[in-house]
Amino acid sequence: MPSVVSINSRVVRPEDAFVSVFDRGFLFGDSVYETFRTYDGMPWLLDEHLERLQSSADRMGLPLPGGLERIRDDVASALTASAESTAAVRIVVTRGAEVGRIDLDPGTAGTPDVYVLVRPYAPVPEVAYRDGIDLALVSVRRNARDALDPAIKSGNYLNNMLALREAKARGAYECVMLNKDGFLAEGSTSNVFLVQGGTLATPALDSGILAGVTRAYLIRLARASGIVVREAMLRDADLRAADEVFISGSLKEVLPVVRVDGATVGNGRPGPMTSRLSAAYRAGIDAARRSR
Ligand SMILES: Cc1ncc(COP(=O)(O)O)c(C=O)c1O
Repeated sequence: MPSVVSINSRVVRPEDAFVSVFDRGFLFGDSVYETFRTYDGMPWLLDEHLERLQSSADRMGLPLPGGLERIRDDVASALTASAESTAAVRIVVTRGAEVGRIDLDPGTAGTPDVYVLVRPYAPVPEVAYRDGIDLALVSVRRNARDALDPAIKSGNYLNNMLALREAKARGAYECVMLNKDGFLAEGSTSNVFLVQGGTLATPALDSGILAGVTRAYLIRLARASGIVVREAMLRDADLRAADEVFISGSLKEVLPVVRVDGATVGNGRPGPMTSRLSAAYRAGIDAARRSR
């Protein structure tokens, strides 16, 4: 059974997995989530994803029932039941269902619910890695940190969805958003990296972005191999002038960008630094698999 769902520690088939219409995640996006992959049955960077889940939950005062250990157990049970070795896993914790009238006040919620969705990983087409993708710099700005902090990976992804919708309408694979002050922020579900004269640059966390798990891993990898990495306040001019551009994410890994708004990046082919980091990323996964 490759697709399974764990609902409050009970594993069911996807067709038997239901959420209450009174659930606050459904009603208000009042939930947090994480998405990650397994490789050969191995959950990749699970500790980092759980840490970020905790941080998202803390930032919105959402208690994680049973704490991270219970969620880790739910992930393990769902993966065992699934037996899918290359899975995409989504953990969702909602503040729970409304018990009386529907009320925005979080104090009116019941108890939080924990869902773990396990499905076969749907790979990004190989051609995207080989030839690179198009990025669109969209008019939708990333949520301001003092409005809805992008550091919270909440169930409210409307900002990202609107940005991606604009990018898709322009024929691009992914968007990149500016923050409200005009600095580069991130994609709808990815972080962005630029190669500038042999060094790597990526928007600083202060730009108002999600602290990508893949982003952090790649920064560590790059620095360990002697590459200078700047986490900085970057402009769209930096994006347009970059020698190479790539995006990162748990399901996308390292994806080369060869056009921004239709203009060619570098020589229009995935660049050497991107290929090197992509290979190092996959080598890191292989090494972890071997040392299990
Ligand atoms: C807004 C946003 N930025 C960046 C990322 C990449 O984060 P990660 O590398 O942890 O998957 C995601 C992942 O879904 C995201 O939703």
